Amino acid sequence: MEIRDWKSMAGMAETYRQARELGIETNIAELETFGFTVIEPEKTGAAPDFAERLFEKVMQIAREEDDQAVELNKHADAEKPAFGRQLFHLLERDPVFVEAVMNPAVQTMGRYLMGLSYRLFSMVAFVKEGSARSTPMHCDSVGVPTPLPAYGSVCNVSWILTDYTEENGTLGMVPGSHRYCRHPTEYEQPRFIGGPMDDAMVTPVNARPGSLAVFTGNTWHCTYPKTSAGVRAHIATAFCRNYVNPAEAYEDIADEIIAPYGPELARLVGKNAWQGYRAEGPKLENMALVRPAYQTQYG
Ligand SMILES: [Fe+2]
Repeated sequence: MEIRDWKSMAGMAETYRQARELGIETNIAELETFGFTVIEPEKTGAAPDFAERLFEKVMQIAREEDDQAVELNKHADAEKPAFGRQLFHLLERDPVFVEAVMNPAVQTMGRYLMGLSYRLFSMVAFVKEGSARSTPMHCDSVGVPTPLPAYGSVCNVSWILTDYTEENGTLGMVPGSHRYCRHPTEYEQPRFIGGPMDDAMVTPVNARPGSLAVFTGNTWHCTYPKTSAGVRAHIATAFCRNYVNPAEAYEDIADEIIAPYGPELARLVGKNAWQGYRAEGPKLENMALVRPAYQTQYG
């Protein structure tokens, strides 16, 4: 059917047209139905060597950064790291990460799931080398109390950088769990993590390097224990709805990082956020950036 600029859609028709142009409409259907999807590398619009560039930069940072620099990484025991290493705040560390956020498929998923006023929430690399234990079952709605809203407050658009299979410790998803509208309890950990839940409730994300694994903040997920040698890495690019406080602080991101991508990146990182005003009140031009087109025009 023809997707027109219906005023009732408040701009989301444009997002859907973008999804159609990229050939990722089926991924939207899978997100709605199962709570997660995998966009194949050929449909991301990225160059064939893009995942390799991301991977090389992530590994360079991992080599250069003290592996104890991040508090969360200290939970690892010497032989079998629990969750592997996490490299935070990637956006400002290299232009390739900015490219990853501004990728057309990433943008389309962010806009579809979080609305046109969406914000960047965090950009974190997860790196595991050698064998590693599982990350427990959870959903990414950190700080959102149960019951969760029926729609996600955050979403996760992850660049897969190595082959993701069960033995490589890929993500395990609970299909349909985005409709439960609650966090998993301790009784909803699968047996392979040491809980009582049937492992058949969980399904592995199988994905090639350069794929995008996408899921909502309501979708339950964990990771499989990594039993293979070698490196397994992905970059979780998380977006949030406009009213959510992003996990990473971007207010001092350098202008030269933003300039090549114009006002949309500035808005994504909160440079023109309408929130945070003092006695002078909110700036109307910043409020206009997050209002549906019909309100901007008439309101
Ligand atoms: Fe997660």
